[in-house]
Amino acid sequence: MASVFISFEGIDGSGKSTQARRLADELRRLGHGVTLTREPGGSAGAEDIRRLVLEGAGDRWSAETEILLFTAARRDHLEKTIRPALARGDVVITDRFADSTRIFQGITRGDLSATVDTLHALMIGVEPDLTLLIDLDPAAGLARAAARAGSEMRFEEMGLAFQTLARAGFLALAARHARFRVIDGARAPDAVAADVLRATLAALQAR
Ligand code: ADP
Ligand code: TYD
Repeated sequence: MASVFISFEGIDGSGKSTQARRLADELRRLGHGVTLTREPGGSAGAEDIRRLVLEGAGDRWSAETEILLFTAARRDHLEKTIRPALARGDVVITDRFADSTRIFQGITRGDLSATVDTLHALMIGVEPDLTLLIDLDPAAGLARAAARAGSEMRFEEMGLAFQTLARAGFLALAARHARFRVIDGARAPDAVAADVLRATLAALQAR
């Protein structure tokens, strides 16, 4: 079967992880080979970098340093997990990819878009075939994220204004690139999952 590269994007608490898991289960049920992975992380080295970027004080890293750390993690994830899985013919589903860096590091704390894009072109150079943007009001996202609070709270703690900018940034990015499908995340998980599956099967058929 054709390999396809799918990413989930959205603000914290929008339901990406829940939907990525459900989509992976459903595609396996339909007989596809599936690799379900996530960023930051998805390979041993990138999971080490995950701990550095998600734990500790909000001001631990500047946005510029974060760009380097997230891109380093992504490069390892691409080399060790994503490319081998696509070569096997798997559907690869990743919970976040480069659009997260474009938004969280590129626009939420000053305009670093050119730096993000240059480093992406140098070190990553690929985009998903399909990006599912789970859109949700930031206050609802933060409430959901707070309910499952743990040690990985650096970005949630940057607050509502930060997540509001991120939501608008994701929607603007979606309007510019044909690979995006925007899915209303403010509904019951079953309704969101039905839209996710419909968009994915359409993309698989188109290949
Ligand atoms: P994300 O990966 O985008 O941060 P999660 O899938 O981890 O989001 O969901 C965040 C929290 O919200 C979890 O506790 C999850 O069970 C819950 N949740 C996920 N989807 C929905 C939904 N459609 N409606 C209500 N709660 C949800
Ligand atoms: P994630 O584990 O997806 O958190 P959540 O489930 O709460 O959405 O991602 C952790 C945080 O990392 C999230 O706040 C977004 C941030 N992040 C970036 O800032 N840049 C990136 O490139 C990536 C991949 C994530």
